[in-house]
This record gives sequence, structure tokens and C-alpha cells, in this order.
Amino acid sequence: MNEISPVTDAATDTPVKATPALPDAQTVTEVKHWTDKLFSFRCTRPASLRFRSGEFVMIGLMGEVNEKTGKQKPLLRAYSIASPSWDEEMEFYSIKVENGPLTSRLQHIKVGDEIILRPKPVGTLVHDALIPGKRIWFFATGTGFAPFASLLREPQTYEDYDEVIITHTCRTAGELTYGRELIEGLKDDELLNEVIGDGFWKKIKYYPTTTREESPKMGRITDLINSGEAYKDLDVAPLCPDNDRAMICGNMAFNLELKDMLEKAGLEEGANSKPAQYVVEKAFLD
Ligand code: A2P
Repeated sequence: MNEISPVTDAATDTPVKATPALPDAQTVTEVKHWTDKLFSFRCTRPASLRFRSGEFVMIGLMGEVNEKTGKQKPLLRAYSIASPSWDEEMEFYSIKVENGPLTSRLQHIKVGDEIILRPKPVGTLVHDALIPGKRIWFFATGTGFAPFASLLREPQTYEDYDEVIITHTCRTAGELTYGRELIEGLKDDELLNEVIGDGFWKKIKYYPTTTREESPKMGRITDLINSGEAYKDLDVAPLCPDNDRAMICGNMAFNLELKDMLEKAGLEEGANSKPAQYVVEKAFLD
């Protein structure tokens, strides 16, 4: 394999820092393809960027040159930050949409490439938007797992709750891999073991389900909860407003259905300005 030497300044022989060609440019440090439709990547983090685990930022690439004006505009989309607030890099988890203006190109990024990252984090899937409780439910479908990849690596999640239940519903078993590997990796997470204590991961109950391919647990989480099957499998009491807090992130129909279920169970929607018992976000792309 050929090794590429870093660019050096001939006079001093010190490496020359690449000048970002893009506004708010960050450099890609790792890319992983999970299925033909899903990938994740890591990039450098702006030194001044502070965010709360669970928030999202706008990221993207420079768009095509406008034939009339000769100008290029950034092509940006909202992406949940999948890395926790303490991580020195940023991580994102994305779908690949064949004709999607951004993801059709973003899926081809390589280590060393630059992306645009607007350093203005926002979002409602944050601990600050919930009042204290005993148990927290993270409900995800598809790439809606991303903010929970951040929150599951956030010490506060285990400081605030006795039990953390993460449900992830995907069409196929392969689409669960990113989440499954991340959760398995938590056992060896040095920071969490140190800050929260050995065996902190025993607080986590992971409930992966598929809807269009055979797997150990089939079905939509909404149906599995409504029938009581999920409670039985997890060996937990049904949702109740006194003990339970929840965060929802998936496609629009899922978000609405689950929101309705939580409301019927007596939970109230919270916000940064008015913390309550559950919060919802949409993970929409293209
Ligand atoms: P299904 O295969 O039955 O539609 P998508 O890829 O369309 O965003 O869906 C991701 C996962 O979310 C799929 O397993 C899908 O199940 C499930 N899903 C879609 N809509 C809902 C909903 N309203 N309630 C629960 N699960 C849903």
C-alpha cells in the first residue's frame, strides 16, 4: 500500500495545515457503511462548538454551480449529532437516498474530505426538556436512532434514571447493526464505567424489532406496546406518568402515533422552555 506523506512547509519542515475551502468546513475522519442504505461518519469538531447530547445541527456539502449566476450555495440538512457532548469529534448517522440532493453525494464522502457544519446546535431531545423520573424510554425507528446514540453515551442519562429502555424498529435486521454495536460497545466505555460505575450498562434494556425481515422480535413497537407484548418481553410495568419519561425520534407517522399513545397513557409533552414528561423530534431527510 502506498503511504501518502503529509504536505510540509519546505522552509520549516512542519506540516502545513490545510486551508478549509468551504465555509464552516470540518474534515471527515472515519466513514462506515452499514447497509446499502445506511452509513455513519465522524468528523472534526469546531473548537468552540458546545452542544447538549440529543441536539442536531445543519450539515452538508457545497451545491452545484448555478448555471445562470455562476454561484454555489451550501446544500444543508438537519442531522442529529450521534456523538455525545464530551466527544472530541462529531458523529452522524445517515440514510442514503438514491436521488436525494444531499445524501446521494454525502454517501460518497471519504476520510480527509470536507463537509460543512453550521455550529448552531438546537433540539428538543435533551434532558433539560424533561422533569425528573425513574425510567426513560428512547423510541426510535430507522436513522431516528442517531440522537439516542448520543444520549446513550451521555453520563447524565444514567445519573438521572434507574432504567433506560431503548426500542429500535427497522425494516431489516441489517438496519439494526449500528445501534446494536453501539449498545454492545457501552460495556467497555471507559468514561461511563468510571463516571457511573462498573455495570452501569445493566440499567439498559435494548428492544430491537424488525418489520419486513425475520429477526428474533418482529413487529412495530407501537403494536407491541399496545398489545402488552413489549412490557412482557422487557419485564417492565406499563407506561405511567409518575415514573416514565420518553423521547421519540423516527418517521412522521411513527412520531405522531407514539405521541398519541403517550398522551393516552397520561404523559405530557415537554420543551426546553417547559420541561414535562416526553419529547418528540423528526428525523427527516431529503
Ligand atoms: P413498516 O415496515 O411496518 O412500515 P421507514 O423506513 O419507512 O421510515 O420505517 C422504519 C421502521 O419504522 C419500519 O420498521 C416501519 O415499519 C416502522 N414504522 C413506520 N411507520 C410506523 C408507525 N406509524 N408506527 C410504528 N412503526 C412504524
